Amino acid sequence: MEKIAVIDFGGQYAHLIANRIRRLGVYSEVIPPTSSLEDTEQFSGLVFSGGPASVYASDIPEFNAELISAVMPILGICYGHQLICRHLAGEVTRGKVHEFGPSTFTADTTHPLLKDVSPNSKVWMSHGDEVSQLPEDFTSIGSTSDCRNAAVACDDLKIYGLQFHPEVTHTEEGIRILDNFINLCKVQRKWNMKRYFQILEERVNEQCKGKKVFLLVSGGVDSTVAFALLNKILGPDQVIGLHIDNGLMRKNESSDIIDYMKKEGFNNLIFCDATDTFLSRLQGKIAPEEKRNIIGATFIEVLKERAASLKQDGENLILAQGTTYPDTIESGGTKNAATIKTHHNRVLEALNMLEKGTLIEPLAELYKDEVRELGETLGIPAELIWRHPFPGPGLGVRLLCHTGEVQPVEETATAALQPILKKYNTDGIILPINSVGVQGDSRTYAHPCLLYIEPNWVKCEQISTDITNNIRDINRVIIEIGSVSREHKMVQTFCDKNNLEFLRQADDICTQMLFENNLYRDIWQMPVVLLPLQANGKPIIVMRPIYSAEAMTADFAKIDANLLKKLWQQLESIGTGALWYDITPKPPGTIEWE
Ligand code: XMP
Repeated sequence: MEKIAVIDFGGQYAHLIANRIRRLGVYSEVIPPTSSLEDTEQFSGLVFSGGPASVYASDIPEFNAELISAVMPILGICYGHQLICRHLAGEVTRGKVHEFGPSTFTADTTHPLLKDVSPNSKVWMSHGDEVSQLPEDFTSIGSTSDCRNAAVACDDLKIYGLQFHPEVTHTEEGIRILDNFINLCKVQRKWNMKRYFQILEERVNEQCKGKKVFLLVSGGVDSTVAFALLNKILGPDQVIGLHIDNGLMRKNESSDIIDYMKKEGFNNLIFCDATDTFLSRLQGKIAPEEKRNIIGATFIEVLKERAASLKQDGENLILAQGTTYPDTIESGGTKNAATIKTHHNRVLEALNMLEKGTLIEPLAELYKDEVRELGETLGIPAELIWRHPFPGPGLGVRLLCHTGEVQPVEETATAALQPILKKYNTDGIILPINSVGVQGDSRTYAHPCLLYIEPNWVKCEQISTDITNNIRDINRVIIEIGSVSREHKMVQTFCDKNNLEFLRQADDICTQMLFENNLYRDIWQMPVVLLPLQANGKPIIVMRPIYSAEAMTADFAKIDANLLKKLWQQLESIGTGALWYDITPKPPGTIEWE
């Protein structure tokens, strides 16, 4: 078969490159950097992915440098681009400015790799190093204001390189560039989804032969599609769905899901209220990764207990989860990838079961956009397919916990912020709390910067990127929509029933605003977060509405300022101290704060 290989250096988007190439009609496989030159002979082109390492680090992924001499078109992306240039005697140095998120790319459209690409377009970056000197016979075919060699080519060797990520949807011309690369590989386009589903069906049938399958159904898109899929392949007698209320769900969520499943004729779903178990385990816990691991492990424990109480013989039982590919990659689940955050379905217990073959994950290679496509073909109604994604740990990772003891922010960061505030003629402070980010394919846990500016989105986008590209201690930028006071106090905060109830109420008000204004479909997801900060003794809320396609990259959503003002009035009426709005793309900020 004609195919293209993606060499995985541990980048957050390595698998996404393969997914994009398949969507363009060419089969693509992910292979390790230790592959031999002979291994690559079956391919018509190679893509070297990004990765979290610096090419100069001592612990870079083991790599067979002979691969660069493969006689076929080669495309290096981010780390892959730097690695190739370095091996061919170019120079890679730490960039003066680190670029995360959007940047404007100026392209030489006469080059076949950039054919039909618009001369100036938005690209998504995530790098600290850059190629400062090109190898001999290489030319620059595109740049950004902070990166001279953003696109390079050596036509004789058929080697190309991009500093930005063409595979993410936020790179406007990314798919066209990958399409051009496929043309340069002169490979035929014969791959389609139908073929993929045949493979999926065979796999599920083989692994589940003669066994009962017990699936966690949170009611989100992934688990609902997995449930419908397993029901279709195996039949309802072989499948049992379990919906667990972990006390971290949104308002009325569990009852709505049970009602929906009944309405759709799924009679093989059972319900279990495990609120007290989950909340008692979370008592006094603060660190996001600890909370995530507790929640993930408790899910499996409850699932196993329920299976035992249904007298299901362990030997004849397979557990199933609706895990998708971002869950695996963000949890550091491939050889060279960094852990950004441990998704609930990727905790140790789940990995042990996967190894033993007692856990099945039929959607594990897919991204949300593909899961939705599959769901549509299975006849799942649009209102469910297009529900906003909701993470397994639910409100547990949207309620930032803290001892209440203030850790002062680094003075150097505060000093570095001043010239930027001056440049944009605005006020702002660095908050003494942390949230998770993803920068240069690695996890960050750094401060948000709060700005007192109007929601003028063009200015917001510029200042947000300027701050996070230049100040390492800041990975997120937010603005104030309304407040009862600008004095904030840090308070002890845990995942308890009172805090959860307040967050649930605030989340519901924000979500209703989207429905009432026809914005629900336009906005891809909108975490609402409760902070361990108060204004006048009242809790502070952050909203994080984003646009995305598959959660690997995101842009902050631009909601009308008047709607936000009204929303603040509603939130104020339930006792909220301030409403803040997240204006960070992904990268550098992840979608969820924890
Ligand atoms: P981040 O926050 O890393 O999230 O940008 C990417 C997407 O994944 C969702 N998410 C999770 N989903 N279990 C899940 O099923 C989890 O533990 C989890 N953590 C984050 C997040 O809501 C977003 O859509």
